[in-house]
Amino acid sequence: MHINGKEFRTIWFENNIVKIIDQTKLPHQFIIKDLKNIKDSINAIKTMEVRGAPLIGATAAYGLVLSIIENNDQSFLKKASEDLIKSRPTAINLKWAVDRMMKKLSGVNSKEILKIAINEAHAICEEDISFCKNIGLNGLKIIEKIYKKKKDTINILTHCNAGWLATIDWGTATSPIYHAHQNGIKLHVWVDETRPRNQGANLTSYELNEEGIPNTIIADNTGGILMQRGEVDMCITGTDRTLASGDVANKVGTYLKALAAYDNKVPFYVALPSSTIDWNLKNFKDIPIEERNSEELSFIEGLDKNNKLTKILIYPQKSKAMNLAFDITPAKYVTGLITEKGICEASSEGLKGLFK
Ligand code: MRU
Repeated sequence: MHINGKEFRTIWFENNIVKIIDQTKLPHQFIIKDLKNIKDSINAIKTMEVRGAPLIGATAAYGLVLSIIENNDQSFLKKASEDLIKSRPTAINLKWAVDRMMKKLSGVNSKEILKIAINEAHAICEEDISFCKNIGLNGLKIIEKIYKKKKDTINILTHCNAGWLATIDWGTATSPIYHAHQNGIKLHVWVDETRPRNQGANLTSYELNEEGIPNTIIADNTGGILMQRGEVDMCITGTDRTLASGDVANKVGTYLKALAAYDNKVPFYVALPSSTIDWNLKNFKDIPIEERNSEELSFIEGLDKNNKLTKILIYPQKSKAMNLAFDITPAKYVTGLITEKGICEASSEGLKGLFK
């Protein structure tokens, strides 16, 4: 998609260096950063310079490429793969991408390994772009149906950033929105601010602005009253891990939005590529929920009056804070899953129907 009218992807590989857009600096600064070795890759994932389930998977894949460039040795590669998997726990795409790479690379001789690794990391990215595009085309059908009935601007609520910045291109939750916009459907997006890191305000609103899509940032607690007033036609969110049962882990606060949507009969869709499905875990209570540093809550960063990026403390100095990064929305609150293969019920029958 676009930044300042110029087409970008979130990650690319150039002259043995991985290039990323540093998402900790958006929307105030647009900085392209170099990742040169495995340490840089793990750090970028941990500090959320790159974030969003598909993008951290792709970063991990390129991280393994960088580890081979750094030290072409199987035990170094194995250690790199283990450290990458540990860098963020909730999004299954990370493990999925590392496992896929390691399946190709384990035991391969040192003369061929780099080329194979580069090709596989590229393939993961190309596949994600095509999956996200198809998610958009499938989701477009739902939006078209609502538009036919309403014949007026459709209000879509989204949480966090499941936009192109969370993937390689298109996004998951935003892909149907971009496709609808390109097809002339009038849209407006309610963007949940998404405390504490404000991915909604800092990233989703930013990327929608760059594509010319009308949007309004709301505090995370506002969605309920908007639904009661009939000002939300549908919700679409992304997910970091969806179980075969259809239960969905996503950015903390998603569950509360799904409850409000259920109570107000607002359709609540979750968009995901198949790389986000965890076919193994049976019970949603076993999904590891990341707990991040509480300073993400107690400190906030923004521009001061002199346009200088500043970080300030907003909580009482003596207060404790707790920062759980994800929550789980049980399948019964999800109207449907929008995938690259089509739309299905959030259930094992639904998913099995699409993914034999
Ligand atoms: O903590 P983040 O910013 O990595 O969380 C991102 C989300 O929760 C997204 O909704 C999810 O990864 C889906 S991305 C297409």
